Amino acid sequence: MEVLIVEREVRPGVALVRLNRPESLNALNRALVAQLTDTLLALDQEESVRAIVLTGNERAFAAGADIKEMASDSAVDMLKLDQFQRWDQIKRLKKPLIAAVSGYALGGGCELAMLCDIIIASETAQFGQPEIKIGVIPGAGGTQRLTRAIGKSRAMEYVLTGRFFSAQQAEAWGLVSRVVPVELYLEEALKLAAEIAAMPPLAVQLAKQSINKVYELSLEEGLHFERRNFYLLFATEDQKEGMRAFMEKRAATWQGK
Ligand code: CAA
Repeated sequence: MEVLIVEREVRPGVALVRLNRPESLNALNRALVAQLTDTLLALDQEESVRAIVLTGNERAFAAGADIKEMASDSAVDMLKLDQFQRWDQIKRLKKPLIAAVSGYALGGGCELAMLCDIIIASETAQFGQPEIKIGVIPGAGGTQRLTRAIGKSRAMEYVLTGRFFSAQQAEAWGLVSRVVPVELYLEEALKLAAEIAAMPPLAVQLAKQSINKVYELSLEEGLHFERRNFYLLFATEDQKEGMRAFMEKRAATWQGK
């Protein structure tokens, strides 16, 4: 059975990537992470793909790194493998990546969702960083990204106890942008991806890049970065077309140039 299912053009310009290890709640073993990162990097290079949706199944987005696979590893094994360095490649994708999360998003599963640009959650989604319960801590960004997303006090509470939190809590705390009924979570994510895919691609790319700088730069540096990207877009044909179409009261046609 394929551990990853990729479908192109599920909506115009939208690719869908599905984690597919249902028997282990989509636990992220090394083979799956390798395939996932390779696939996302390849889709990022495909001109016809304008937005990517990443999902699991109704019961689990992903229940974390594969505990069975790493249980007997030594620190030296972990250092040599440096598995989580692969995850940094996901951070560098140019195209928007939307997580459609239902069921468990735990440990590495929660970290993977947080690596995405937008999270749409089903009302059954459960998030958490339960690593503490198996004698470790989050290792793929959880202590950093969860804290930035929901604040220090809550992150401390949930990382130190390993408790799960609900989709509704995640929405109230700003971790996810929307909670929708379980039968709609994938549809809503695809609809959103299609809406973004219909926007001028270079502007989408630079908007994503600028927003992500919030986590890396001071306000002054971030404003400078944004301003340069704004000016840069005036070198594109899509900027000329977009503004001309507005004045001529017609729909714009984007070329990605
Ligand atoms: N790794 C490997 N296998 C896993 C797994 C994981 N993270 N999560 C679930 N599975 C497997 C179970 O072992 C079980 O397999 P078997 O049928 O062969 O026993 C199968 O998936 C179904 O799981 P359960 O029977 O446990 O289902 P449940 O409904 O009773 O419980 C659950 C669901 C609460 C999510 C529970 O499975 C669980 O606690 N999973 C582990 C969650 C976890 O600790 N994640 C963090 C992993 S460490 C990490 O991610 C590090 C990092 O920062 C990257």
